Amino acid sequence: MALQRTLSIIKPDAVKKNVIGQILSRFEGAELKISAMRFALLSREEAAGFYAVHKDRPFFKDLVEFMISGPVCIQVLEGDEAIQKNRDLMGATDPKQADPGTIRADFAESIDANAVHGSDSPENAATEIAYFFPNMNIYSR
Ligand code: CMP
Repeated sequence: MALQRTLSIIKPDAVKKNVIGQILSRFEGAELKISAMRFALLSREEAAGFYAVHKDRPFFKDLVEFMISGPVCIQVLEGDEAIQKNRDLMGATDPKQADPGTIRADFAESIDANAVHGSDSPENAATEIAYFFPNMNIYSR
């Protein structure tokens, strides 16, 4: 098994619902360690830059508007196979398709307000971590 880091975002809908702690507990319960964490109210430019890979998709504008609608809580998670493990914990992008017991099945309302983001590959994890934690030491524990 490979030790990996992945970027996780608790999105504005889940922050508003006051379920940050419940979501973080799921990471810890799956033996993912929180190696870095911060709150942010993203600017339109920051959100658009983060999701630049989706800039030509029809949902891009709504996605950016949603991501700036309130504070987000951003983490670096670390552990064995952290990227896939986090995606398994999150469940499918559309909460209606998400398996019971996953974060999105339990806390998300719609494909836009879907509670969490998680990196989908080692390359994207490295890019996304550098985007939100550029000058920060991330401590292995
Ligand atoms: P996330 O994992 O943060 O990555 C991109 C986001 O775009 C996704 O979660 C959804 O919240 C949002 N989105 C909205 N519509 C779609 C769609 N049709 N396909 C994929 N992502 C979508």
